[in-house]
Amino acid sequence: MSVHTQTTKVTTTKVRQMKQAGEKITMLTSYDYTLARLVDEAGIDILLVGDSASNVVCGNQYTLPITVDEMIFLSKGVVRAAQHAMVVVDMPFGSYQISEEDAVRNAVKIMKESGADAVKLEGGADILPIIRHLIAAGIPVCGHLGLTPQSVNQFGGYGLRAKQEDEADKLLKDAKLLDEAGCFAIVLEKIPAALAQKVTKAVSAPTIGIGAGNATDGQVLVLHDMLGLNTGFKPKFLRHFAQLAEDVKGAVGTYITAVQDGSFPNADEQY
Ligand code: KIV
Repeated sequence: MSVHTQTTKVTTTKVRQMKQAGEKITMLTSYDYTLARLVDEAGIDILLVGDSASNVVCGNQYTLPITVDEMIFLSKGVVRAAQHAMVVVDMPFGSYQISEEDAVRNAVKIMKESGADAVKLEGGADILPIIRHLIAAGIPVCGHLGLTPQSVNQFGGYGLRAKQEDEADKLLKDAKLLDEAGCFAIVLEKIPAALAQKVTKAVSAPTIGIGAGNATDGQVLVLHDMLGLNTGFKPKFLRHFAQLAEDVKGAVGTYITAVQDGSFPNADEQY
């Protein structure tokens, strides 16, 4: 009996076809089953278990502390929720930079234990041999160029990247290298819109932008940011599509009052 089933799930082939057809690709981060299920049901193409979980879920200042095992724990819930979307998991800082062998071992562990569809790595020419090894091992890889938060200590902050011509030229070269190596998509973070457009035209892999203008093949945002759950963070590129911080605080305030004044639970809410 065959275990292969027909699926309507988004695949690496599908996102490449979307680029060719001029259809925009939608990606949002997700870190848990409940929200991932809602985002999946809403029709998102790609769920990214970003290492931004280090900030959003764990409250760390940087993405650097999160571990492979923590990423796997979060990814399992997202994978269980995803009926339609493809699930991409960030390889955390330190899990792919040491050696090609170590990178393959960690990527295989992430894919096996979480059930995810692909991994994402930050970097260009520097990590090309690593990306080639992962792809040769049958692991779909999403690249990530521009602002790469795992290198925050090297950059000295989260400012706009590739403003100067030399850095822009390097980014374009890196994107071409990632494309030739077989990355199925490339995230472009916080770079000038004109450069993102140039890169998008120059590569066959779909580009997915965050703070990179609207000429990229798709867009990604951190879910909690776009839902307005994190009011303290509002860079220029971010749009709040909801104001959930206010909704959550309002609901919790109403609950506290109802408990304190004895109106919750009422007669219909007890056994
Ligand atoms: O970790 C993350 O959330 C990301 C996105 C910002 C692309 O890498």
